Amino acid sequence: MRGLTAPPFLRTLSAKLSQSKSGAYLQNVGGRLYNPKDVRDRYDNYGDKEWDRLEKSLHGVVEYEVTLHILQKHLPENAYILDAGGGPGRYAIRLAGMGHRVYLLDISEEQLRLAEKKIDEAGVRDKITAVRPMDICEMGEIPDANFDAVLCLGGALSYVRERRFKAIAELIRVAKPGSPLAVSVMSLLGTFHLIATLDARNFLENIRDHVEWDPETPFPEVLNSKRGSPEWHAPMTLYTSRYLKRFLEDHGCRVVEMASTNAITSGERKLEKIASSPEAVEMLVDLEKQFSNRPGVVDMGQHLLAVAITPEET
Ligand SMILES: C[S@@+](CC[C@H](N)C(=O)[O-])C[C@H]1O[C@@H](n2cnc3c(N)ncnc32)[C@H](O)[C@@H]1O
Repeated sequence: MRGLTAPPFLRTLSAKLSQSKSGAYLQNVGGRLYNPKDVRDRYDNYGDKEWDRLEKSLHGVVEYEVTLHILQKHLPENAYILDAGGGPGRYAIRLAGMGHRVYLLDISEEQLRLAEKKIDEAGVRDKITAVRPMDICEMGEIPDANFDAVLCLGGALSYVRERRFKAIAELIRVAKPGSPLAVSVMSLLGTFHLIATLDARNFLENIRDHVEWDPETPFPEVLNSKRGSPEWHAPMTLYTSRYLKRFLEDHGCRVVEMASTNAITSGERKLEKIASSPEAVEMLVDLEKQFSNRPGVVDMGQHLLAVAITPEET
């Protein structure tokens, strides 16, 4: 099982870039930048805004419906599912309602407190096997090959930054060999797509203050936000689809689908005219589902989703 070591393609990239001027960026890729307390505090304070996120704006509704649409194509029936970084339990509860059994874990005790409440309100307690405080990098209390499917949706793999190698190894370890693993991360190109939406002049003028990239070097496939930059809600790593695919493949997985959860609504949150028309919303969600895995849009949403099959037993 790999630990913190960078997989081969990163080492190749390191070798190439270390011949260029990007030494600083590469040191950061391997550096110690993940601080679990940052993430825990952020989500403890965010409270029920995280539950509302997928309900109150059309952008969130689309993210939720497209993600479920993709999950349903790959999940076995009546599966035992891990929802890692599951927050207040939106996916866990919906999946439990479909007959799956779900183990929910999250780093934020406040998100888990909300999850407990929502699970009871939804009447699916009998399908939820655990609601546990845990870091996806340290899931030692869960045995190997425990789940028929593993989910890590909404960004935990971005927040763990350089610990993503340990986190993905853990997510694969607890999944049965040959089972679906669905992850969503912060999209690098999708996030940069917001530059125009937000008319982000300051970001462009002072880009070195916001991301760990030297503009004199080629634009990378994976990028850390700069610690302390106010442009980010928490320090994170942003991924391109090319990077995410190779990251999963380098850990022995076979990627079966990649998608953007907001192909059309990327960046847009108000959408008042559309939101006021149920027919328009229905057509929008239908189009989003159909567009989500088209190669031209996969990188364009703020979340990049991948479904992979974990390594078969050898
Ligand atoms: C944006 S929310 C997503 C919640 C849900 N999975 C979804 O997609 O709607 C991100 C969640 O990941 C959790 N998280 C972040 N880093 C984590 C880590 N290292 N281990 C476990 N949970 C983590 C946060 O506490 C938060 O609840």
